[in-house]
Amino acid sequence: MRLPEGSAGARILAFGGYQPARVVTNDELAATMDTSDEWIRSRVGIASRRIAAPGETVADMAVAAGGKALAASGLSPADIDLVIVATCTPEVQIPNTAATVARRLGIIAPGAYDLNAACAGFCYALASASDAVRTGTATHVLVIGAEKLSQWIDWTDRSTAIIFADGAGAAVVGPVTDPGAGPGIGPVVWGSDGDMADKICIKDRNSLIFQEGQAVFRWATTALHPVARKACEKAGVDPGELAAFIPHQANLRIIEALARKLGAPQAKMADDIVTAGNTSSASIPLALSRMIERGELASGAPALLIGFGAGICYAAQVIILP
Ligand code: UT7
Repeated sequence: MRLPEGSAGARILAFGGYQPARVVTNDELAATMDTSDEWIRSRVGIASRRIAAPGETVADMAVAAGGKALAASGLSPADIDLVIVATCTPEVQIPNTAATVARRLGIIAPGAYDLNAACAGFCYALASASDAVRTGTATHVLVIGAEKLSQWIDWTDRSTAIIFADGAGAAVVGPVTDPGAGPGIGPVVWGSDGDMADKICIKDRNSLIFQEGQAVFRWATTALHPVARKACEKAGVDPGELAAFIPHQANLRIIEALARKLGAPQAKMADDIVTAGNTSSASIPLALSRMIERGELASGAPALLIGFGAGICYAAQVIILP
């Protein structure tokens, strides 16, 4: 027996992002529920978020982000042989989102699957893509995080309606081709805690998103920095060497606390939540694509990603920025 010829490592070639057109401000929410712009900004860090149009689907947003990442990578659809869509808000259970997205992007007959690790979904999908490329199972992988959380929000529940939003982000993953170059995606550190499954959940088919905000807040601000540090250690990168820190955009207070405990004051921290809200599995690639578009991230530098949320699931890895 032998394995297909694999490459030394995998890397990210490009990112792409998509946000729906509709901007929803805190004042707009405060007009229909007992909250305020001041409370939301100070407790969560959100000034506005994007909400998809009624007929706009998760697949529509995934296609938009995936198409941008593909164009930025310089590859053609024929080069992609695996498509992974991380989402916890698929339109339907079957068919999956990935096969439809692939077809709409002109990617013919790739492996295609959806992955649900909620807000950790993108980091799980990126790890799976990296492993597929390293073992030779796939050559180029389109990894997308896409969510339409607005269709699962109880718009009378002020503890969730002010947080969650819609959007998509994508990355193209391929082999390291330069023989002198090291890997571009470090080992993942991932895990879960099913004992906390009821802290963020959709209880049954007739329910909407429920969250015990304080419990999740406490967990995220106390349990995650060792995971972030471990991902650096496994990649052989000192936190002091990180150029950027891109955590899941859960709550600005959570990610600022996490950044402090990580101990990487020089790293540029993503604060995309201010204008994007919490878009679950889309938040990390969306933030990255927007920071790259604004010229805030240097190509070739190391960045730490960490996703965390319902499950409870979490995952972190160091990447080299494309
Ligand atoms: O992405 C998936 C992972 N999810 C997360 O990471 C979310 C983690 N949790 C959080 O981000 C925060 O816990 C929330 C943003 C959900 C809530 O913020 P908090 O600072 O933990 O507020 P709290 O639940 O402790 O509530 C404090 C007060 C309460 O009033 P009383 O009992 O002190 O009078 C709430 O009823 O704030 C009240 N409150 C609000 N007031 C105005 C709760 N939500 C709102 C609101 N507007 N939207």
